Amino acid sequence: MTKAGTRKRVLSGMQPSGLLHLGNLLGALDNWKALQEQYDCYFFVADWHALSTNYADTSRIKEFTRELLIDWLAAGIDPQRATVFVQSRIPEHAILYLLLSMIVPIRWLERNPTYKEKQEELKERDLSTYGFLGYPVLQAADILLYKPDYVPVGKDQLPHLELTRELARRFNSLYRPVFPEPQEHLTKFPKVLGTDGRKMSKSYGNTINLSDSEPVLRQKLKTMVTDPARVKRTDPGNPDVCPVFDFHKIFSPVAVIERVNRECRTAEIGCIDCKKLVADAMVERLTPIWEGRKKLTAKPDQVEEIVRDGSKRAQAVSHQTLEEVKEAMKI
Ligand code: TRP
Ligand code: SF4
Repeated sequence: MTKAGTRKRVLSGMQPSGLLHLGNLLGALDNWKALQEQYDCYFFVADWHALSTNYADTSRIKEFTRELLIDWLAAGIDPQRATVFVQSRIPEHAILYLLLSMIVPIRWLERNPTYKEKQEELKERDLSTYGFLGYPVLQAADILLYKPDYVPVGKDQLPHLELTRELARRFNSLYRPVFPEPQEHLTKFPKVLGTDGRKMSKSYGNTINLSDSEPVLRQKLKTMVTDPARVKRTDPGNPDVCPVFDFHKIFSPVAVIERVNRECRTAEIGCIDCKKLVADAMVERLTPIWEGRKKLTAKPDQVEEIVRDGSKRAQAVSHQTLEEVKEAMKI
């Protein structure tokens, strides 16, 4: 490994708005794990961002923050390599957010596609707030404080990253160059469908969570939809349209994948046995994560120490940037 000073920097965050599920593990988290081997990584829980949609019911944000940290560590995010922290512990994020809010034109925020989309999606909540409109400004502050080279995100976050770069350019030209423009590092998500065959998402209630126990996992698989045309045990099935087969492709050994691919089409294997095979493979992959979760849950002090240490390191970086910002703005 190269020295910390010469490694390129990566920063990313997740909102604590629910429990982490398999889709998050196979997408974002596995990617983060690979990145920490190569880059100087900063990973943080964006708990203030969770307020933007959950301000009316904040009862679970603390709990979800804890669980998220436990999930990350159990899944292999290594606090020796990566700096793990919590947004709300670092007031610099709020200060830069305020300063950037002075220079961001409102039309940039109103034309942000996720602004309208999210409001549409969460119609039952009143998202006509200042904080919700300003969400990407807070995200820009999160990012720019650390001057990262790359920001690993899913496609849905690209408009926010573009806005971050636009804000960096605007700041640099109004005052003096302080912020490099961060690039996205697109996360490739393998296709992970939920138990109802739609995209796995907490808003559909079709997730398998990292915190689910083995019996819960097996039960969820039992009720998972299969090829809808395969009604009777004797009907041949088509794995290509079956979400259970997608899990096989991710978790099972090649021999099992080939067998299911063959025997499903000829009705030699039934869905119950097929699901049992995939459940076994998933249990094998998840067992180390479950054990890690158990250990960390029993040792809240250890998690606290990791976060305290990470937040201290993150604050040193963000403090330095904020000093440059204030100096450039002459305040
Ligand atoms: N908006 C991101 C999401 O919902 C979370 C986030 C907040 C973030 N601040 C960030 C991601 C900074 C990357 C960088 O997924
Ligand atoms: Fe899906 Fe397996 Fe049933 Fe085929 S046998 S339809 S792959 S669950």
